[in-house]
Amino acid sequence: MNIYHTVSGLRAEIRARRQGGETIGFVPTMGNLHEGHLQLVRLAKEQCDVVVVSIFVNPLQFGLNEDWEKYPRTFQDDAKKLEAEGCDFLFHPDENEIYPNGMADQTRVVVPTMTDILCGASRPGHFEGVTTVVSKLLHIVQPDTAIFGIKDYQQLAVIRRMVEDLCIPVDIVGAAIARDVDGLALSSRNGYLGEDERPKVKVLYETLCWCRSQIEAGERDFTALEIQAAETLEKSGFRTDYVSIRNSKTLEPAAHDDSQLTILGAMFTKGARLIDNISMTLGESQAAAVLEEQTEVKK
Ligand code: PAF
Repeated sequence: MNIYHTVSGLRAEIRARRQGGETIGFVPTMGNLHEGHLQLVRLAKEQCDVVVVSIFVNPLQFGLNEDWEKYPRTFQDDAKKLEAEGCDFLFHPDENEIYPNGMADQTRVVVPTMTDILCGASRPGHFEGVTTVVSKLLHIVQPDTAIFGIKDYQQLAVIRRMVEDLCIPVDIVGAAIARDVDGLALSSRNGYLGEDERPKVKVLYETLCWCRSQIEAGERDFTALEIQAAETLEKSGFRTDYVSIRNSKTLEPAAHDDSQLTILGAMFTKGARLIDNISMTLGESQAAAVLEEQTEVKK
């Protein structure tokens, strides 16, 4: 595995491989790699000839009071893990390489509306930092395929929209959430959890599963479900940021006849903010039942 710190060094190497007819798969990360990231790398290897992983803790996507300084930086360990997975190129730029004109003067990429809700509401500016750095990374690497974890569902939806709106020639692939045995979604921020909290945080996933089972059973009062779900998190001792049932593509509040739904949740522990989500497709019979119900109401 070759490690590059500069845009020009990485580009020269990728260009040579692309000219040789090979396809490029890309996995952008902020490091502190866990099994979830390694699954993304495996998927990239399955789909493409050459795999590029970037590790860059992007200051532009952290708010002033957030954890940029304490975000775990474990480069040596990460490099070993990537080498073992057969990653070809590891890109590890510093801040000056990514923001040579300074962060304040950096050209920004903004995806409006869908970034103001859910995580965007409690992390102003976060998604602007993400879309700016991801568009830069996509321009640097110019991959055929870029792979992102579905755990950051809103991030994935925002990136898909950016790629569509800006006609960036890349396939965006979402990879399934890697979970611990109790269901907790793997995250670099799980390391912030206190020992006393760790056994309890599975309540987030369990609550989203409960919402799904209610919807499967025919419940369509989404607001009532969201309120009850938030109460469950609070009763377990966590402050709810949101539990919300949304249209999977637009992230708008789910309509009764939507067939693709995503249930998203975020809650605060003492030292971390955890997020999770579950997507579901309502079967034809369920969608038909909803339509019938609406027709009844119209009559
Ligand atoms: O999901 C992440 O780790 C980051 O938001 C990303 C996509 C690497 C951009 O910094």
